[in-house]
Amino acid sequence: MIIAIDGPAASGKGTLARRLAEHYGLPHLDTGLLYRATARVLLDQGARLDDAVKAVSAARGLALLDFDEERLRGREMGEAASVVAELAPVRAALIEMQRAFAARPQGAVLDGRDIGTVIAPKADIKIFVTASPEIRAQRRALELRGRGEKADYAAILDDIKKRDRRDSERTDAPLKPAADARILDTSDLNIEAAFAAALAIVKAARS
Ligand code: CDP
Repeated sequence: MIIAIDGPAASGKGTLARRLAEHYGLPHLDTGLLYRATARVLLDQGARLDDAVKAVSAARGLALLDFDEERLRGREMGEAASVVAELAPVRAALIEMQRAFAARPQGAVLDGRDIGTVIAPKADIKIFVTASPEIRAQRRALELRGRGEKADYAAILDDIKKRDRRDSERTDAPLKPAADARILDTSDLNIEAAFAAALAIVKAARS
């Protein structure tokens, strides 16, 4: 069983993907980390985020151990990742790794922006998780504060809107629901309620 979870920043897709993976005993890949790790290599090199040659070589050089770092999950890296993610050759360099993960024999859960549309268009279950920008900004502020980062709500809301625009308007693999995705709006749902709704979608698709 392949479960594809897509959605905009701070929609709750990561938490849902992790919970579904635990529930079904499936491996989980947070594909945003691939773009974040690529951006981190460029920032560490002092390179420009739109330097396609360096970005592709960073993407090709990623190994799983590159993802285990707190700094990757911070606000700066999310922003930088969305700039790197606009580069078509970077996306191409990361496709293979993601498709191989999706093709694991026991199945997999992947979350990102283009899982249902590009990475695993034949996924058994596709869920597009969304929520209003204001709610997402509140959630991201709480998450960042929980990790000890400074979190200014207005600046975060601004980031989220900018990132939505960048992710939705890029030409290669833009953020959009697959034609056969179920939309799950979590604006009025807490984590437990959102998980129950996601589980109901999976169960309905399997019956
Ligand atoms: O957690 P959050 O949703 O803020 O970010 P993320 O999922 O870690 O993704 C960071 C950035 O990577 C996004 O804004 C996208 O630009 C990019 N990304 C992408 O283009 N395709 C994916 N499959 C995953 C992430």
